[in-house]
Amino acid sequence: MYYPQYRPRRFRRTENLRRMIRETRLSTDHLIYPMFVMPGKNIKNAVSSMPGVHQFSVDTLLKELQSVVELHIPAIILFGIPAQKNDKGSEAHAPQGVVQEAVGAVKDKYPQLVVITDVCLCEYTSHGHCGLLHKEEVDNDSTLDVLAKVAVSHARAGADMVAPSDMMDGRVMAIRHALDDTGFEQVAIMAYAAKYCSAFYGPFRDAADSAPQFGDRRGYQMDAANTDEAMREVELDIQEGADVVMVKPALAYLDIIHRVKKDFDRPVAAYNVSGEYSMIKAAAAQGWLDEQRAMMETLLAIRRAGADLILTYYAKEAAALLQ
Ligand code: PBG
Repeated sequence: MYYPQYRPRRFRRTENLRRMIRETRLSTDHLIYPMFVMPGKNIKNAVSSMPGVHQFSVDTLLKELQSVVELHIPAIILFGIPAQKNDKGSEAHAPQGVVQEAVGAVKDKYPQLVVITDVCLCEYTSHGHCGLLHKEEVDNDSTLDVLAKVAVSHARAGADMVAPSDMMDGRVMAIRHALDDTGFEQVAIMAYAAKYCSAFYGPFRDAADSAPQFGDRRGYQMDAANTDEAMREVELDIQEGADVVMVKPALAYLDIIHRVKKDFDRPVAAYNVSGEYSMIKAAAAQGWLDEQRAMMETLLAIRRAGADLILTYYAKEAAALLQ
């Protein structure tokens, strides 16, 4: 019997053969490690819904970074949990705020580490929404000034990159102008460009204490049903000055990552969010799947879809395996 010339299994026989035709690479170079920082000393609180993730005070954060740097992870993204919240979220741009203090300390000790800061108000507002309230609505335009102030305060503290995650219209432009006007034209913007309203952020809201006190985020985050709208969001953010465009979450939105990579000429980041991490952790804890394999397969899939960069709570574990 004649069999077709091409037998795909010929190249699957041994690891070296498989290696030779492997199309997608995952490397530590692509990883960004999210970390939570709070005021105080000697704090390392485990986040119960995210095994392996902690809230740190600045001193313990610095200690933890030793291993991050040794693993050659190039970048972290910082989220702050402030001492007090108020309706305007003003701690978010306090010069001695927790993120500002952390950024300064981290850049002092690890000048080579790329420090990215999340720019949003939900951790800082008493109501837990990502912007200022006008009655029960999150008011877009008055929020822009506050976000710009937050970004400038992070840049002043030494941040290399700011990452607005609030989903207000026009915030990338407001932030770009404010940074340029204050001499921070070298500070990059990684825009959460296509950020969906997602159930997969649940565990993060425990870690960052940022759950909305009423309502939800549907009035500003994207509807899960939409693809074309994500392209418009990305296009706008690029026009407004985004250096990196992010899709978030990653796993339920691999099609969006793929399309953004195909249609736009900017580095694409994808956020492997808290719920995606906790699902694997929970199943692995039950002995239902092999955690290392599930983690690496997930990260590889996000790369294969087209992400250049991956924000992931698995950064340390993946980097250790990749070494
Ligand atoms: C702040 C913000 C959120 C996440 C990153 N920045 C939560 C939200 O929008 O409710 C989620 C990250 C994760 O789930 O890992 N707006």
